[in-house]
Amino acid sequence: MKITKICCIGAGYVGGPTMAVIAQKCPHIQVTVVDLNEQRIKDWNDPNTDNIPIYEPGLSEIVAEARGRNLFFSTEVEKAIDEAQVIFISVNTPTKTYGKGKGMAADLKYIELCARQIAKVAKQNKIVVEKSTLPVRTAEAIKSILDNTGNGVQFQILSNPEFLAEGTAVTDLLNPDRILIGGDTTPEGEIAIKALVDVYANWVSEDKILTTNVWSSELSKLTANAFLAQRISSINAMSELCEKTGADVSEVAKAIGMDSRIGPKFLKASVGFGGSCFQKDILNLVYIAKSYGLNEVADYWEQVIIMNDHQKRRFSNKIVQTLYNTVADKKITFLGWAFKKDTNDTRESAAIYVADDLINEQAKISVYDPKVSRNKMLSDLDYLETRTAEQNSKSLAIFDDPYEACRGSHAIAILTEWDEFTTYEWKKIYDSMHKPAFLFDGRNILNAKELESIGFIYKGIGS
Ligand code: NAI
Repeated sequence: MKITKICCIGAGYVGGPTMAVIAQKCPHIQVTVVDLNEQRIKDWNDPNTDNIPIYEPGLSEIVAEARGRNLFFSTEVEKAIDEAQVIFISVNTPTKTYGKGKGMAADLKYIELCARQIAKVAKQNKIVVEKSTLPVRTAEAIKSILDNTGNGVQFQILSNPEFLAEGTAVTDLLNPDRILIGGDTTPEGEIAIKALVDVYANWVSEDKILTTNVWSSELSKLTANAFLAQRISSINAMSELCEKTGADVSEVAKAIGMDSRIGPKFLKASVGFGGSCFQKDILNLVYIAKSYGLNEVADYWEQVIIMNDHQKRRFSNKIVQTLYNTVADKKITFLGWAFKKDTNDTRESAAIYVADDLINEQAKISVYDPKVSRNKMLSDLDYLETRTAEQNSKSLAIFDDPYEACRGSHAIAILTEWDEFTTYEWKKIYDSMHKPAFLFDGRNILNAKELESIGFIYKGIGS
């Protein structure tokens, strides 16, 4: 089976970059990305590709190359479904905010809507690919919806979780560590798996394309995120112990990372992980474990989240304590709001929670982030529903210039590890601040000795 037409439902952080790379690498395949969000599609079609809605290094160039050739962004969901042989589902699967499993389970309403829409529109056999991160055994539910349409169309469901990391999405997609494709072990299932393998084989060597059964593939994605987040919580747990004992967490991380069994990656202590995936996927894993009565398994993984929440709170507490136990009416400047560098995504960013804590203490927060818009920052705070939108907008001042953001502040807190923060004229910033001038480096990116010699009281994480 040769694939010539692909449709992707969901033009977000996964659907957009993934399909752009497929289109770039497979000029013989027509790729249409659809979304219900008209503004998002309009932005993807902006004549200037620097204005596309998702910031990822290298993405705008790829979109410029493929868009209009074999890459299309559209709101015509049904038409795209009808035409495609393969349909990727890349819609959001947030944590449920209501009903059974509230705060833990994945909300699958968007997935179900997609399945129902595919069932309604499809007139020919189709391969449906789960690209979104889904609870193990979701494919069963999708299949049941698709198979009950009564129009005789055959569907094959594949699980093809996405392992890209925001901020490095393009390089991750171009050079993936592996591609994982799970499918049925029936002859039809194997044909579908082969068809998708052939798409990736246009640029990924076949030894990196792993095929498994559907359930292993679904569960592997949750497991990967749980392991990654667990490393961050583990090093963050050690950072608190380092602060008490005089050890330095960067030195500890280096020392353990050189052990080839441990490895050096994901060992950087910080204010805590954010992003749309780690917390959501671990909570989902915890929920699944509990639903099978596996309470020890659930508790084990939940601790990763508990540690992360603690690390965020510890950071805001440290700011308050160091500033003589009061931040009321003090200007505290945040450098960074995105959950990590090189992305404009702010979902679950530590900055939101630290700001919320400090505003509760009546601090005045100023923020500079090179890629995050004012509206996004305010809506992130509003989403917590701690206070009214009007109160939030009074407590958060947003600047386009980092030096202006820092002027007159009592303290600076680094919340995102943007490279540009290391290049600032820190002496100039110091001169414009209240004294003593405090600097809380939530990412350990600045040179402590240099800043201390300027006069800053510098507090990193874990030393
Ligand atoms: P997103 O929220 O950026 O994008 C999802 C898009 O789907 C939205 O634009 C929304 O309007 C659209 N949508 C929802 N329901 C729809 C429907 N019925 N028809 C058409 N469009 C619809 O989400 P993101 O970050 O791209 O995540 C998507 C999935 O990929 C999630 O399951 C996530 O866990 C997973 N994932 C995310 C990664 C990341 O780094 N963001 C990495 C790997 C997986």
